[in-house]
Amino acid sequence: MVSIKTAKDIEAMRPACQHAANTLVMIEPYIKAGITTDDINDLVHEFTIKAGGIPAPLNYHGFPKSVCTSVNHVVCHGIPGNKKLKDGDIINVDVTTILGGWHGDTSKTFYVGKPKVRTEKVVEVARKALELGIAQVRPDATLGDIGHAIQSYVEGERMSVVREYCGHGIGRVFHEDPQVLHYGKVNTGLKLKAGMVFTIEPMVNIGKAAVKLLGDKWTVVTRDKSLSAQFEHTLVVTETGCEILTLPS
Ligand code: MF3
Ligand code: CO
Ligand code: CO
Repeated sequence: MVSIKTAKDIEAMRPACQHAANTLVMIEPYIKAGITTDDINDLVHEFTIKAGGIPAPLNYHGFPKSVCTSVNHVVCHGIPGNKKLKDGDIINVDVTTILGGWHGDTSKTFYVGKPKVRTEKVVEVARKALELGIAQVRPDATLGDIGHAIQSYVEGERMSVVREYCGHGIGRVFHEDPQVLHYGKVNTGLKLKAGMVFTIEPMVNIGKAAVKLLGDKWTVVTRDKSLSAQFEHTLVVTETGCEILTLPS
């Protein structure tokens, strides 16, 4: 069941979405060689609590921290720990804030220092993949249109799209219907309607698409250890297209 949010619901979601977006702005200057992902976790946690919010990842199905930090070949759901970032790394910081009972979910891949050419390529392809997916969103377009736009672009760049994890409906609930796949065929799947709210969050691998889950039951890595990058926004379908809710204010 895919819910249609009212104008009032959307207004109620804005603070959560903006806070999540502003968290990424807050964290950016800290992304430097020598910082640990635990430090990032603590900064995100404090920033959220101070705003009267709740970091949605904490205890979500047992996730032990307040933010996901996915470094280099980690695809998603990386658990913050005591490992230090080093120059040349990339790190996706995935923030989900609960504020006033509503969720906002957004993530971004940051460079630590100066990236190598190939590293920059996968990050920029992931950034553009999200942008192209978003460009498809309007009433009467389909979820397949979004997936196809992302997949055809990424594979045209000779990179690959992760299949096992997808975007999702979001609202009072963190993950709700629909599932937003980042691959697919034009004019297939759910037809979009104004008031639908969901995330798009393509994970792009520089190598093969296959992933595996580590023994901690959370950390997802590329099987071939190749780099992976991701960007995510929460958006609402409007009468004329869509509005990205997770833009910083
Ligand atoms: N924020 C992730 C997403 O985009 C989900 C993280 S779930 C967690 O859907 F438990 F790992 F935090
Ligand atoms: Co999400
Ligand atoms: Co997220």
